Amino acid sequence: MIVILLGPPGSGKGTQAAKLARETGLTAISTGELLRRESDSGSELGEQVRCLLRAGLLVDDDLMNEVVAKLLAGEDCQKGCILDGYPRTIEQALFLSRFLEGHGLEEPIVFDFVVSPEAVIERLSQRRQCPACGHIYSAEFDVYGKDMVCEVDGTALVRRSDDNPETIRERLRIYQGKTSDLVAFYKTRRYFALDAMQPADAVGAELISLLDTLRVPLVLRGGI
Ligand code: AP5
Repeated sequence: MIVILLGPPGSGKGTQAAKLARETGLTAISTGELLRRESDSGSELGEQVRCLLRAGLLVDDDLMNEVVAKLLAGEDCQKGCILDGYPRTIEQALFLSRFLEGHGLEEPIVFDFVVSPEAVIERLSQRRQCPACGHIYSAEFDVYGKDMVCEVDGTALVRRSDDNPETIRERLRIYQGKTSDLVAFYKTRRYFALDAMQPADAVGAELISLLDTLRVPLVLRGGI
């Protein structure tokens, strides 16, 4: 089973991908995280990726397709996976459809996170992330103005380099120009629009309830 989380930057995809992975036992794949790791690696490719991420631009379709295809064929994705941030263009969506068909796999379930641009800007300006484990936080609750640390491993939280106002605007522009076309692409298939303006717990509960109505096999839940 492939679950796609679709939605603009800051709509809560990463937050819900982590929750959903815990609830279902499915592997969460964040193409953004993979790219940030490559960017930090010091490789030549990482240097090119770093420039694109900082500018809020998309990485080449062929490269992303190759990376995702390799992961989908791997051991970790044998039960399926949650795709956070992929596909992001029609070319990527077509590639994924061909890949799934070629491997005799069913069509993905697509959850579209609907949120206002104002909320996106607010959320991304407050986002903090653990550089060690990737856990996502909001500085909304940082009332004391102290450095925030990760609840999981105590590492000091950081801001992503693309969470600055100029890059956020560019990411939103690219989302509207390229990724939002995917709504029309998937709308006639297993597509569900979610009100992502709700609190994160309510969004998570809606996701699980929708998966229930789709009769996602219980065997996936927490490895039972
Ligand atoms: P990526 O890392 O995928 O970034 P994104 O899609 O822009 O999404 P974000 O990670 O910014 O936001 P999110 O929706 O995950 O929200 P989050 O849960 O963190 O990609 C980064 C870059 O990589 C791209 O710009 C592109 O350059 C490149 N890239 C990636 N994939 C690619 C691909 N397939 N092809 C080409 N290029 C690619 O939440 C945000 C904040 O809101 C957090 O602080 C969180 O605590 C808070 N929050 C979450 N939910 C709620 C809620 N319901 N209410 C209130 N606050 C909430």
